[in-house]
Amino acid sequence: MSAERTLVLVKPDGVSRGLVGEVISRLERKGLTLVAAELRTLEKATAETHYGEHASKPFFGELVEFITSGPLVALVVEGPRAIEGTRGLMGVTDPVKAVPGSIRGDYALEIGQNLVHGSDSPESAAREIDLFFPGLKG
Ligand code: TYD
Ligand code: MG
Repeated sequence: MSAERTLVLVKPDGVSRGLVGEVISRLERKGLTLVAAELRTLEKATAETHYGEHASKPFFGELVEFITSGPLVALVVEGPRAIEGTRGLMGVTDPVKAVPGSIRGDYALEIGQNLVHGSDSPESAAREIDLFFPGLKG
């Protein structure tokens, strides 16, 4: 199967808790290859664009505040079925419900501070990779 790319964020809680290496290590051990990586603090406008699908949700304001609260690590990883594979490694959105063995299941308790983001579809991946790494070439 041909390789697929996805955007992963180690959110500000992951950076402040020293879990960047742990997250990257799990992605690499799964067999995914890093193709881009950057530590950056998001502008509010970038965060609002990234999470645009949630603009009408009650948690949107807190989500944008949290994701811009400090540096995050943006990654592009590549591999067969990278999108689904990464979502599986992350665990479900609510970390209390995420299975032990997943990143959220092992390291988080609060839905608003669930450590990682991963694109949820090929369309989202293309849009998000272009937002974080415009012009990224294979
Ligand atoms: P969502 O895209 O539904 O989850 P995922 O990150 O698993 O794709 O939501 C985006 C982020 O919004 C989620 O990671 C944490 C936050 N969030 C809340 O704070 N409260 C909520 O009730 C939900 C659904 C999400
Ligand atoms: Mg999502």
